[in-house]
Amino acid sequence: MDLAEIEQLYLHRQSCRSFTGEDVPAELVKKLCSLALLAPSACNAQPWKLIAVTGEKRKAVAACVQGLGMNKFAGDAGAFVLVAEGKSNLTAKLGGRMKDTDFTPGDLGIVTAHLVLAADAAGISSCILGWRDEKKLRAALSLPEGTRIPYVVALGYAKEGDPVRPKKRKPTEETLISLM
Ligand SMILES: Cc1cc2nc3c(=O)[nH]c(=O)nc-3n(C[C@H](O)[C@H](O)[C@H](O)COP(=O)(O)O)c2cc1C
Repeated sequence: MDLAEIEQLYLHRQSCRSFTGEDVPAELVKKLCSLALLAPSACNAQPWKLIAVTGEKRKAVAACVQGLGMNKFAGDAGAFVLVAEGKSNLTAKLGGRMKDTDFTPGDLGIVTAHLVLAADAAGISSCILGWRDEKKLRAALSLPEGTRIPYVVALGYAKEGDPVRPKKRKPTEETLISLM
């Protein structure tokens, strides 16, 4: 894959809020998760657990990411992947303490980014959802008490006529400091 193709992928990936409701096959979701799990992490701690939900159970997940008018579209997602915090390792924890940085949130963001980009490459649209009820999610999926679930990723097939939107980003001058 060359840079132009990567650029196309990055421009094509967008948050989808208009899914058809069609199931995403479990095998495909599993493949996307296995690709996401190739993501880098501090000290290779891989402090994550991806929880893939397909089939009927996804309705229960949808209910946990909706409320106050938010994420109504999630009812039509074809699968969900919960990005949960898993075990870190001693090196990452010690390094993090010495450098006054908890690396885990960043690592969870990186694995999530890998997931949504892999999904797009496979023709699956996605939306990362930060608006979620962790307590309800734990109850709905019988996850251990206290499991943190910072993100839920909705996956699915975009409805026809959901065009690729131009990216709205801050001007690069604001966000890229070039000392070159
Ligand atoms: C951590 C995080 C949480 C988000 N939570 C939600 C959400 O709950 N609902 C939603 O519709 N979009 C959510 N988004 C999507 C953002 O609004 C979206 O990524 C941003 O507006 C840029 O648009 P794009 O993804 O189409 O490029 C979230 C994105 C991230 C990275």
